[in-house]
Amino acid sequence: MHHFEYRDGALFAEEVPVTALAGQYGTPLYVYSAATLTRHFQAFDSAFDGLDHLTCYSVKANSNLSVLKLLAGLGAGMDIVSGGELYRALKAGVSPDKIVYSGVGKRPSEIREALDAGILMFNIESVAELLKINEVAGEAGKVAKVSFRINPDVDPQTHPYISTGMKKNKFGLDIENSLEAYRMCADLANIEPIGMDCHIGSQLTSIAPFMEALDKLLDFYGRLKDMGIGIKYLDLGGGLGITYDEEEPPHPTEFGQALKEKLTGVPLKVILEPGRVIAGNAGILVTEVVYTKSNPSRNFLIVDAAMNDLVRPSLYGSYHRIAEVTPKERDSLTYDVVGPICESGDFLARERALPAVNQGELLAVFSAGAYGFTMSSNYNSRPRACELLVDGDTVTVARKRETYEDLIDKEL
Ligand code: LLP
Repeated sequence: MHHFEYRDGALFAEEVPVTALAGQYGTPLYVYSAATLTRHFQAFDSAFDGLDHLTCYSVKANSNLSVLKLLAGLGAGMDIVSGGELYRALKAGVSPDKIVYSGVGKRPSEIREALDAGILMFNIESVAELLKINEVAGEAGKVAKVSFRINPDVDPQTHPYISTGMKKNKFGLDIENSLEAYRMCADLANIEPIGMDCHIGSQLTSIAPFMEALDKLLDFYGRLKDMGIGIKYLDLGGGLGITYDEEEPPHPTEFGQALKEKLTGVPLKVILEPGRVIAGNAGILVTEVVYTKSNPSRNFLIVDAAMNDLVRPSLYGSYHRIAEVTPKERDSLTYDVVGPICESGDFLARERALPAVNQGELLAVFSAGAYGFTMSSNYNSRPRACELLVDGDTVTVARKRETYEDLIDKEL
């Protein structure tokens, strides 16, 4: 459910016509809906009511400060993967004791920043990282609270680039090495193991892989207890999918119910790290048709948004629904919707049936709120798009459109 709806023949973002936004702020333009973000966060978080839990929004999905502030105001913790994300989360007012820090390559300076901030825990992904965190914590005169990211070797049945919990992936530690890592903690003066963690992949459209991973983690928990190691937290990562096209992912309540059944009587606080399910359908990318052209094999809609603005179609072959902002009765044609970038891989859709729109018309690319702007770049020296947050009839410029000066600002 989201708040981008057609009313009186035009697309609205909550109470504001999208044409008015494009007219005032230009295109390409990201538009986020505050009501949708709120609804998604609350629906997700309340799905686990009855379980002692903390929902840590995964900052990488959409890290705009206005979005983070909104979610922090709703009580969200945050899942971060870099010093930059820590900086954003703290600026957004998230309490440090609600921040978990994942990622395979945390640098010593980033570890120190997180220790100084007093985060809830580091999700450690290798023995080398464990030793480095112990060393940095020692220098800082602190004890780092940690969990290990266990790679349960479960196939999440999603795109290979966003599968993370299989043996061949770079993430986490396999079960036997994890046991050894927990054992090692006893000899490390500046480490306190407090949890266990896993994240098996993203855009999962079924509960089964989560449950398979959970079973393996609970079995592991039993082995830890046998070794006399007590922990308090069970971090299950993120990964719940959304509808881009015709996927029917489980509702968070289904996930919540399944967890409650497995975790009754287990004295662990559950941490969840949802990203896409909160932000994905809370944002659209608005773009203008710059030119249309046809050759004997293809019809092209050349639009002013490109792979630098939204890379998902180019990188993963992802589907994003594209529709007119002001729909009209007309024939439909099969189009490639492409951007101005000098690469054949620069497309938002391929062989897509769309109404035969004209130059100058606006299109909305749906489900662009997660992994949209955060994966954008300046490739082809394209200033990054403007981001708006709409709340009812109030529009906030969440990030100004970049200028040409911004492009060279850091250069000699
Ligand atoms: N926790 C960890 C440790 C993660 O690595 C991720 C995502 C999440 C949580 C949040 O997962 P979510 O709930 O959003 O599925 N760029 C790709 C997605 C990459 C996901 C990376 N990790 C895409 O556009 O599909």
